[in-house]
Amino acid sequence: MISHPYYETALAAAQRAGEILRKYFRTKVSIQAKSAVDFVSQADLESESSIVETIKTRCPDHQFLAEESHRDRFDAADLWVIDPLDGTSNFLHGIPQFAVSIAYVRGGICEFGVVYNPISDEWFTAQHNQGAWYSVGCPAADRNMTRLQVAKDLALSDTMVAIGFYYDRDKIMEATLRSISDFFRQNIHGVRRFGAAALDLAQLARGDYGVFMEYKLHPWDHAAGGLIVSEAGGKLTNCLGAPLNFNGPTSILASNSILHEAALAIAKRNLVNATNL
Ligand code: IPD
Ligand code: CA
Ligand code: CA
Repeated sequence: MISHPYYETALAAAQRAGEILRKYFRTKVSIQAKSAVDFVSQADLESESSIVETIKTRCPDHQFLAEESHRDRFDAADLWVIDPLDGTSNFLHGIPQFAVSIAYVRGGICEFGVVYNPISDEWFTAQHNQGAWYSVGCPAADRNMTRLQVAKDLALSDTMVAIGFYYDRDKIMEATLRSISDFFRQNIHGVRRFGAAALDLAQLARGDYGVFMEYKLHPWDHAAGGLIVSEAGGKLTNCLGAPLNFNGPTSILASNSILHEAALAIAKRNLVNATNL
């Protein structure tokens, strides 16, 4: 179980944000376009201000790397990395696959992470070097939590692959489509595109599938989910096989460890080909 002085703060912040997202879900919420296909809604903004406010009230000196409002550096002493609504496109289309993602980072180490789907009431949590857990209902001290463990699939032909698409309709999209085709040629069981990277990672940690890849994600998309994957026995690198960069966008390949090299061969080949175009 997680034991950390700021863990309760994260749970309280996520719960409050979840209430806001439920309030706006399937209503006519106001939206602004960040690009032709990338939107931010009143729900994203209100969720983020409520998370920041909850944390600031309890920890006034802490810093934030939060998608809509704060850009403190990843190596700050006490840093909260926040995606107030991961899966905005799903949210805006009334699809109940989205999450609040909160990670607490100290000196560049992600100490704990929380990914919460406020519709299914599923909570995925992890603490550095202590493991990862799952519960339906808020993970209070007396609740029975299930320990998360990645799938034991031994070959790509035994597994399902989850894919993410960045807000790009050019080279990144083409490279992603080529990778999907290459994965299918390895006789994988199927490809899933769920639309919320934090949950993609959390569900990989639960063993739903053996591989997740996306060619561009930001730290708030993967900080909490990435810790949950590694604490559940999985492996994360970028799509060239190097450690993840937390100071800017990165490609990401997450797996149950066993399938990492096989998946990396595909993810890397198509990324390299796309950047050489
Ligand atoms: C997005 C989601 C999506 C992923 C995009 C992300 P947002 O986050 O995680 O699954 O494919 O790359 O930007 O914009 O909904 O917070
Ligand atoms: Ca996101
Ligand atoms: Ca978001």
